[in-house]
Amino acid sequence: MNIPMSSFTFLLYTLFLFSTLSLSSSLPLSLKTQASILVSLKQDFHSKTSLKTWNISNYMSLCTTWYGIQCDTNNTSVVSLDISNLNVSGTFSSSITKLSTLRILNISNNMLNGNLTWKFSNLKELEAFDAYNNEFNSSLPLGVTELHSLKYLNLGGNFFHGEIPARYGKMMSLKYLSLAGYYNEFEGGIPKDFGNLVSLVHLDLANCGLKGEIPHELGELYKLDTLFLQTNQLSGSIPSELGNLTSLKSLDLSNNELIGNIPNEFSNLRELTLLNLFINKLYGVIPSFVSELPNLEVLKLWQNGFEGSIPSKLGENGRLIELDLSTNKLAGQVPRSLCIGKKLKILILLNNFLVGSLPNELGECYTLQRVRLGRNYLTGSIPNGFLYLPEISLLELQNNFLSGFLAQQEITNTNSSKLREMNLSNNRFSGSLPSSIGYFPNLQILLLHGNRFSGEIPQDIGKLKNILRLDMSFNNFSGKIPIEIGECFSLTYLDLSQNQLSGPIPIQVSQIHILNYLNVSWNNLNQTLPKELGSIKGLTSADFSHNNFSGSIPEIGQFSMFNSTSFIGNPKLCGYETSPCNRSSSETSESPNQENGPTKRGILVKYKLLFALALLVCSLVFATFAITKSRKGIRKDSNSWKLTAFQKIEYGSEDILGCVKESNIIGRGGAGVVYGGTMPNGEKVAVKKLLGVNKGSSYDNGLSAEIKTLGRIRHRYIVKLLAFCSNGDTNLLVYEYMTNGSLGEVLHGKRGGFLEWKVRVKIASEAAQGLCYLHHDCCPLIVHRDVKSNNILLDSEFEAHVADFGLAKFLLQENNGGTSECMSSIVGSYGYIAPEYAYTLKVDEKSDVYSFGVVLLELLTGRRPVEDFGEDGVDIVQWTKLQTDWNKESVVKILDGRLHQIPIEEAMHIFFVAMCCVEEQSVERPTMREVVEMLAQVKQPNIFHV
Ligand SMILES: *[C@@H]1O[C@H](CO)[C@@H](O)[C@H](O)[C@H]1NC(C)=O
Ligand SMILES: *[C@@H]1O[C@H](CO)[C@@H](O)[C@H](O)[C@H]1NC(C)=O
Ligand SMILES: *[C@@H]1O[C@H](CO)[C@@H](O)[C@H](O)[C@H]1NC(C)=O
Ligand SMILES: *[C@@H]1O[C@H](CO)[C@@H](O)[C@H](O)[C@H]1NC(C)=O
Ligand SMILES: *[C@@H]1O[C@H](CO)[C@@H](O)[C@H](O)[C@H]1NC(C)=O
Repeated sequence: MNIPMSSFTFLLYTLFLFSTLSLSSSLPLSLKTQASILVSLKQDFHSKTSLKTWNISNYMSLCTTWYGIQCDTNNTSVVSLDISNLNVSGTFSSSITKLSTLRILNISNNMLNGNLTWKFSNLKELEAFDAYNNEFNSSLPLGVTELHSLKYLNLGGNFFHGEIPARYGKMMSLKYLSLAGYYNEFEGGIPKDFGNLVSLVHLDLANCGLKGEIPHELGELYKLDTLFLQTNQLSGSIPSELGNLTSLKSLDLSNNELIGNIPNEFSNLRELTLLNLFINKLYGVIPSFVSELPNLEVLKLWQNGFEGSIPSKLGENGRLIELDLSTNKLAGQVPRSLCIGKKLKILILLNNFLVGSLPNELGECYTLQRVRLGRNYLTGSIPNGFLYLPEISLLELQNNFLSGFLAQQEITNTNSSKLREMNLSNNRFSGSLPSSIGYFPNLQILLLHGNRFSGEIPQDIGKLKNILRLDMSFNNFSGKIPIEIGECFSLTYLDLSQNQLSGPIPIQVSQIHILNYLNVSWNNLNQTLPKELGSIKGLTSADFSHNNFSGSIPEIGQFSMFNSTSFIGNPKLCGYETSPCNRSSSETSESPNQENGPTKRGILVKYKLLFALALLVCSLVFATFAITKSRKGIRKDSNSWKLTAFQKIEYGSEDILGCVKESNIIGRGGAGVVYGGTMPNGEKVAVKKLLGVNKGSSYDNGLSAEIKTLGRIRHRYIVKLLAFCSNGDTNLLVYEYMTNGSLGEVLHGKRGGFLEWKVRVKIASEAAQGLCYLHHDCCPLIVHRDVKSNNILLDSEFEAHVADFGLAKFLLQENNGGTSECMSSIVGSYGYIAPEYAYTLKVDEKSDVYSFGVVLLELLTGRRPVEDFGEDGVDIVQWTKLQTDWNKESVVKILDGRLHQIPIEEAMHIFFVAMCCVEEQSVERPTMREVVEMLAQVKQPNIFHV
């Protein structure tokens, strides 16, 4: 959280004002009178602790010890009152206007409310008024226009509404004016009369719902150095008159609906350091004078319709720090001069039609931090040194026509690279991977798929201790999979498919405890599948198909999760649906061989024998079937079933058992299969059959004790556990029935988009309250361990209820030996797992907070936690970070397109909360209690400024 920009500016102005204080002409009030005015003000505030010094009996020291007060040089009159950042709430009374000698009034960053219809005309001397970030809720106060000395006015961050009064254009002395959002929402547009504010240096009208055209009269504000009009709905073209603002340093018109060209008159803006025009409907060429602006540091024009080429001299001013021209129709080459000044940090040109090769100069641009050049038509090879730049953290070159080898780099300090993500996929790179690929200690994502890489995978790959996602698919890699891959302990996603790898899958892969996705399909791998892979508990997706594996599929752990699709195309492999292992095959091949001679009798005997054999096989199959059936099926002998009800119920264990049949299945989850059913009294219930609970072990007792605890939990936003039914082997949990299924189904299923924005906000807040209860208020405290949208159920009113908590730790693997002992729980669900799991193998309530953050992102974006995010990352968190660059204002880029009319400031707020929840470091995440509070502020003034 930064100090709001305005506070800093305010400070500057304060300093400036104090140096120009003039003599006061009005008759001063006595110290005691002034002190009593302040004390009466204080009565209206709700937080008085911070103003302890405001005590009438101390009025003599008003000018020396009272908090936030400054007086004139003779200590006779209060000239400055600063109660900013005190979190005081309540109505700010107009009696303040009695302090007629005030020059500076700063009440910013509080929770004050009211309407500011004060008698401002009393404050003849007032030069600075900062009410930024409070809860004032009315139309803009007209009284301020009578303050003829006013130089600084900030009414931003409140709930002001209605039109911006034309009379604001009369405040000729104003140097600084901000009416910016996030909650101010004005009707109409920018008054033409603003053209009269000729003293104005800083004008900020960002993010406050303004419509209409930018009045060309603003071109008369010659002194402006800052013009912020971003994030409104301004339309029409950019007035060429703005080119007269020759003092302008920062111009931000981004995120509006502006059309047309960049005016040629902008070539006069010689002082410009920042030019942001992104997210508009601008077109035409980027004028070449842009590259001649001597001071330009930041140029962001992304998401417009610009065409032509990038000005070839861009960067020649030696100042360029940030350049983002992505998602336009730019053709031509990447200019050579971008980094001449050795200052460029951000270079984003993705999604254009750029051609030619990357300038070699980029290999020496040591300041670069983020480079995104994907989805262009670039050719040639990677400039020397480009991959190994010291500051670079993100390097995307995917979906181009780049070719050549990746050079081996001599690296002296192997801990220096900051690279976290490298995406070279879908190019034409060839040759073998250099072993220096292992020199990226911070690399988390390495995507090489869809190239022509060949040779063996270097052993140094095992040095990538932080790698989360490794995709080498669709290349020509050959040789064995290096056993060192098992040292990439942080891997969750490993794709080696569509290569020419041979030999076995090294059992070391099973050391990667958190692997979720493993794809080795379409290679020449052979030998048996290592049974150890079955103990990777989070492995929810694996593909071994189209190789040369032999033997039978281990009947162990995760292997039971995969269907035949994962194994087909391995002629020597058996043990799946389409290729069962024929256990009796030894008998069949031996018995008929005793026959010799094709005599008639012999043939007859042979037929008889065959018939007998067929019978034998049939009965064997039947017997096996019967045995399996009796093992898996539920013994309906209700005597052995014990029913524990947690509230008065009007049905028995037979009724519950009656629900447990194939045709009643309404869901399957990590914890088990869920059946829906109607009890004799008409009540609908959901019955969950727990899978994989350790049988006959001491855990059994633990389970029923725990379940009793769960049964006691009563909370509006938590699914009620009604009863528990067990026969020792099988455990059934009976829950209240949730008509509208899970949030995951509603959001991502066919009915998606059905959830309007308001409902989503409501669900977020309810689910947060449910989790908060588990974490902080119930006894014992419960960590959910599997928070996801599929575990947030919706009743008939679409009210959210958290389900499936507290179960995860009982779901032990059958094969519970060796390495897996340190894992007392299943990991959670792919896409929701907090990163610390990689390092600690432990989950705590902050891991739930992370998962909840993922749910918030699902609500915002309508995306699944893991889906095809194209070039932009592994999962929803990664994708969001890349799309928005953590920037609240860019939330528009990720919002669910199915939603109409999203209040943008609400979306930004929820985005902010989500981003806090998915912080890498668990200590930096808020608690669920804090999350609840933050979500409750969706419609209130934004206390949490980013
Ligand atoms: C301060 O006191 C001096 C001397 O008494 C007087 O001349 C001056 O006008 C006073 N200044 C103010 C600001 O009242
Ligand atoms: C402003 O608030 C005051 C005090 O709450 C109230 O008396 C007055 O009517 C309000 N004025 C307007 C224009 O809403
Ligand atoms: C301001 O710019 C406009 C259009 O670019 C031009 O016609 C006008 O003469 C300029 N005004 C002054 C006072 O320079
Ligand atoms: C597995 O493949 C390798 C390399 O192609 C070969 O040398 C080896 O004999 C094969 N082993 C088995 C058991 O088929
Ligand atoms: C196997 O499972 C995958 C994903 O779980 C599914 O897409 C596929 O259709 C299934 N295949 C068969 C043959 O059941």
